[in-house]
Amino acid sequence: MSDKNSPVGFFDSGIGGISVLKEAFETMPFESFIYFGDNKNAPYGEKTEEEIKDLTLACGEFLYRRGVKAIVMACNTATSAAVLLMREKYNIPVVSMEPAVKPAVAAAGNGTILVLATPATINQQRYKKLLETVGKTEKIISAGCPGLVEIIEKGDFDSPDIDSYLENKLKGFDGMEIDAIVLGCTHYTFIRENIEKHAKAHFKGMRRIFDGNGGTVRQLKRVLEENGILNDLDKEGSIRFYTSSEENIIPLFEELFYQKRTT
Ligand code: DGL
Repeated sequence: MSDKNSPVGFFDSGIGGISVLKEAFETMPFESFIYFGDNKNAPYGEKTEEEIKDLTLACGEFLYRRGVKAIVMACNTATSAAVLLMREKYNIPVVSMEPAVKPAVAAAGNGTILVLATPATINQQRYKKLLETVGKTEKIISAGCPGLVEIIEKGDFDSPDIDSYLENKLKGFDGMEIDAIVLGCTHYTFIRENIEKHAKAHFKGMRRIFDGNGGTVRQLKRVLEENGILNDLDKEGSIRFYTSSEENIIPLFEELFYQKRTT
């Protein structure tokens, strides 16, 4: 049985969700967190809906069995395919992510928005509904980025592979007026500066970058408050990292988490 002093569980297909975890810990330092990266099965974004559902439920189970009081699906792809199943299955709050299209539309007004996400996220009904809800579909360009997560998973964000991937992808929109770019996959937040650089080289317009991390963390806090399970201890919480892959990836998790906290 979990209570308010139990940890919050986070998961992602790999390292991407660490960017969300970092923001959560900054906002709620008294909370403890368990992070599970399903690196063995990354990327999710090029798998079938059924495969993503199964993998997502397995991540949920991993965390639930460790007594978490809430689960954060720090993965847009897993959310698109399986958030409803997760909410049906668990009697604890499940907080999910979606590409930050709403704030991007609010900021870009009538301008054009480029959404970068995994192919699975873009092909899901949930994403199509999101676009319908915000309207302006003619102003939103959705670009699936197959292969990008694999490169990011290697943890070297300065790698020439990332540069050439982005160059190839973004030059396809060369000369366009793009006012907002949505990072619709948590992995992409680690290469935000690279994306900014290539966007500047190819796009006109405001090129403001949005991600869903802040919104997800605010929602987590709200949900913990509403359920009366916000931690009331007066000391910094603990973080534990787990992976479905080799243990030697854990130092990378820690490096990303602690390094990003100090920048
Ligand atoms: N980080 C994930 C997301 O936010 C999924 C990446 C993947 O495994 O394809 O979409």
